[in-house]
Amino acid sequence: MTEILEVTGDGFERAVARAGLVLRRGGLVAFPTETVYGLGANGLDADAVQRIFIAKGRPADNPLILHVESPAAAAAYVEDMPPAAERLAALFWPGPLTLVLPRSPRVPEIVSAGLPSLAVRVPAHPMALALIRAAGVPVAAPSANSSSRPSPTTAAHVLADLGGRIDLILDGGPTEVGLESTVLDLTGPSPRLLRPGGITVEALAAALGEDGLELGGGDGERPASPGMKYRHYAPRSPLTLVDGEPAAIRALIASEMALAGRQGRTLAALVYSESVPALHGLGLVLDLGPRDDPATACRRLFTLLRECDGAGVDGILAEAGDAKGLGLAVHNRLLKAAGGHVVRAGGGA
Ligand code: TXA
Ligand code: MG
Repeated sequence: MTEILEVTGDGFERAVARAGLVLRRGGLVAFPTETVYGLGANGLDADAVQRIFIAKGRPADNPLILHVESPAAAAAYVEDMPPAAERLAALFWPGPLTLVLPRSPRVPEIVSAGLPSLAVRVPAHPMALALIRAAGVPVAAPSANSSSRPSPTTAAHVLADLGGRIDLILDGGPTEVGLESTVLDLTGPSPRLLRPGGITVEALAAALGEDGLELGGGDGERPASPGMKYRHYAPRSPLTLVDGEPAAIRALIASEMALAGRQGRTLAALVYSESVPALHGLGLVLDLGPRDDPATACRRLFTLLRECDGAGVDGILAEAGDAKGLGLAVHNRLLKAAGGHVVRAGGGA
């Protein structure tokens, strides 16, 4: 049985205290962060951490993030906090940035799936921070979805994926950012981006100054974030990402939807607001928000992918936006959801 605690004003302290106890006893608690819901276990208890992998069906070689309450706490679980880590922690924590650093032997190796490194972050959500304090231990937590499903941005998403497999869900309402944290590897010669997320590449580059920033894509000498090699964020219906000029994208999606309709199939369109009117009546049309507002697209993306599943459409056509700022994270997740299936609208292949 999975217990759900709705955490409102008065009940906050009691709910968090209870959840902290469940964690201390080796249980699994899903909790909101500012990015997505996490599935937490006591990060110093290898058996508890093992349960996360089982509940999610997560591949054993995909490491977890250790959630801590402060930069000082992060320093206690890594071998070394280089100056770049100190600087980024001071600027962006609490917040949607995960730093990969050399793991301290205090942290069981299952947390980082056997790697010598450890991903750490200080989440910017009062409930997450209160939970870490109540547990009295660092909290190992991946996103609280079953493996390969879109990350959960509401307690209902967590329940749909993991109901019956975990002990408790703290319901703190929808998450604010909607996509996961940015993951930055600081174990190599220069800082390397492993996953774009809530802190933009532009902000990181500005903070790192002459240290520079390597935009890793997984083809380099060192493997990129192990998690990025798996098909991810995958809706059940096949998704095609349509890139190009907005007007050409719109025209291609409209003609594909119309064709599908004539063949008795229903397609969903996951598009920016400007494209919505042109697709009216052609199928399921889902609005990512204005093109120039990627923060809204971040917040809506995973919910809309799950909506496509609920509707049981035959396929999804997604509009590519500008891969800048927060738009880079949206683009990255859509590419993953598409499993690399991208078409270019308006000439060329
Ligand atoms: O916003 C987030 O990051 C959310 C919330 C709950 O904090 N968590 C999250 O965790 O998205 P997860 O497990 O779904 O994604 C963690 C990513 C994976 O791609 C994983 O491979 C990578 O971080 N990662 C973790 N430890 C690593 C390490 N030691 N070296 C390289 N990549 C690592
Ligand atoms: Mg995940």
